[in-house]
Amino acid sequence: MKGIYGKLLSLLIVGMVMFSLSSCGKEVSVEGENKKAKLVLGTSADYAPYEFHKEIDGKDTIVGFDIDIAKAIAEDLDMELEIKDMSFDGLLEALVTGKIDIIIAGMTPTPERAENVDFSKIYYTAVNNILINKENMDKISTLEDLKGKKIGVQKGSVQEALVTEQIKEAEFKSLTKITDLILELKHGKVDAIVIENPVAEAYVEKNQDLMITDMKFDVNSEELGSAVAAAKGSDELIEAINKTIDKLIAEGKINEFIVEANNLLED
Ligand code: ARG
Repeated sequence: MKGIYGKLLSLLIVGMVMFSLSSCGKEVSVEGENKKAKLVLGTSADYAPYEFHKEIDGKDTIVGFDIDIAKAIAEDLDMELEIKDMSFDGLLEALVTGKIDIIIAGMTPTPERAENVDFSKIYYTAVNNILINKENMDKISTLEDLKGKKIGVQKGSVQEALVTEQIKEAEFKSLTKITDLILELKHGKVDAIVIENPVAEAYVEKNQDLMITDMKFDVNSEELGSAVAAAKGSDELIEAINKTIDKLIAEGKINEFIVEANNLLED
């Protein structure tokens, strides 16, 4: 049995190689052999300074400290990085169905998510902030004040679960994109949004009409922090990723990446 399938498989491979050689013209004899394997990263580039769009040399580019971490991982694995930008609530599904190899998207390694995917160690820890319009600062200063108000969160995020548990009698609006949540807040369609502090700070920097309140949520550490996700059972890959993370942390690189990402945001 195995023999026949093995033969068929090698015939198929020979066929594919011949096809690819014949289809790409003359000087290709060694091309392909030199090509690195691809590491496909899934992210949701609406989350500055983690990942966001930035025009660089006239070209729309995805940048951010998560992207720098992904590049370091790909380099250590000697692979070529390909980035797929998708909505945050579609990332886990894309990983489970093999459309992407890893997720780096400021994703928190919750126990529920860990039932379907494997996580690396945590590479960065943030806290949750509540963002409001400056003009409402007297009206909204405690969690109590949010009663009866409209609160925006990202669909499929841990913040979505958090607010529905901890803020009572409020109305919730879940949107796919953080960028849309910011617009809704600026236009008064929601009264507050809940996002992680680096992101809140990045948007406040850009939108002087917004502000971060000092309200705090009661969260356990498992609801904080970001980790890299890979398909279930990718022990070797996760081990390699953890090694890169250890190295980046030890060399102070992650903090450097964050500073660089914030600089990119400013100019
Ligand atoms: N840390 C939160 C979570 O895991 C939010 C992450 C949102 N990430 C993004 N790229 N939009 O649910």
